Amino acid sequence: PPLDEILNLHDFEAVAKVVLPPTAWAYYSSASDDEITIRENRAAFQRVWFRPRILVNVSTIDYSSTILGQRSSLPVYISATALGKLGHPDGELNLTRAAGKHGVIQMIPTLASCSFDEIVDAAQPNQPLFLQLYVNRDREITKTIRVKALFITVDAPQLGRREKDMRMKFVGSDGTAKVQDGMSGVKKDEGVARAISSFIDPSLCWDDIPWFQTITNMAIILKGVSTPEDAILALESGCQGIVLSNHGGRQLDTSRSGLENLIDIVAALKTRGPWPNPKFSVFVDGGVRRGSDVLKALALGATAVGVGRGFLYAFCSYGEAGVEKAFKILGDELEMNMRLLGARNLKEIKPEMVDASGLRSH
Ligand code: FNR
Repeated sequence: PPLDEILNLHDFEAVAKVVLPPTAWAYYSSASDDEITIRENRAAFQRVWFRPRILVNVSTIDYSSTILGQRSSLPVYISATALGKLGHPDGELNLTRAAGKHGVIQMIPTLASCSFDEIVDAAQPNQPLFLQLYVNRDREITKTIRVKALFITVDAPQLGRREKDMRMKFVGSDGTAKVQDGMSGVKKDEGVARAISSFIDPSLCWDDIPWFQTITNMAIILKGVSTPEDAILALESGCQGIVLSNHGGRQLDTSRSGLENLIDIVAALKTRGPWPNPKFSVFVDGGVRRGSDVLKALALGATAVGVGRGFLYAFCSYGEAGVEKAFKILGDELEMNMRLLGARNLKEIKPEMVDASGLRSH
């Protein structure tokens, strides 16, 4: 369908499923084992209900945000999804260009199909970029990468079994050619995820965090935190934030959704310092597809949310224009829902505006 018939982020997924080569669809859409966590990521949002306030003058709505000190037109950033060229010849550059035009922040994946330099060249002069890092066994390689904020992925000492992906034999393509460079011992018969992940260092541990702090002045965010215990360790280690994430359901299956974990984690962080803590951001990703999802996470204490597949499917279907449309859709949904909720700006989105009794607490 033409782009102007796309009404929401789910529509991009439906188009992507039809237009993508089967290998790409399998790699992008798959989640681990029985795919229970990926389903739960969506379901958790549906267990939270709004408590809208009436008779607020909502003539003007402002959903602009600040994420790790960077201005963002939306309280949403683009989360890292590997191998963009499997789905579109311009790969991650679709995201970079659209993000630059609309003031949205992109997190570049370690396993991007485009080189870091290509992405930086496609960015506007002062466009902020975040970087997702899979820590290599060879720590020296890590030092050569430089950006504003570093999101160290901590939920993938080994990549999960994505069986949909594994059933597709890995066939090298333009999208995968770059990341294979310098990676020896890559097995080509176990699906895309396995083929590209053999360099990840499973020995990464809390003791390594101080080392990262010595090699960079960037904010360090741990991506893939699920418990209050680890959230507090991250805070005490001097990290600047965490992402409550289960990697889009692609790692430990039957782990809880980030949204569900948010309540206990915020409660624990409140006991250890100011709240909201300007020096410690709490992000959530997984299953965010609607402006209303974003508002629920913010009401429960998230600083901002990450979207992975939503933007990935947008550029697979319509390139850069698809991503621009996705930003527009999310912005329009945020505006309408904030107006109906009685919140004029992000500061006015309060915990009392949601009934989260459908989410569990310990
Ligand atoms: C991812 N994700 C991811 N995360 C990461 O830290 N490094 C990576 O290389 C990737 N690659 C990747 C590829 C694909 C195809 C997907 C779908 C996801 C996880 C991603 O950053 C984010 O946590 C989830 O995508 C969020 O869930 P949604 O928005 O896809 O539901």
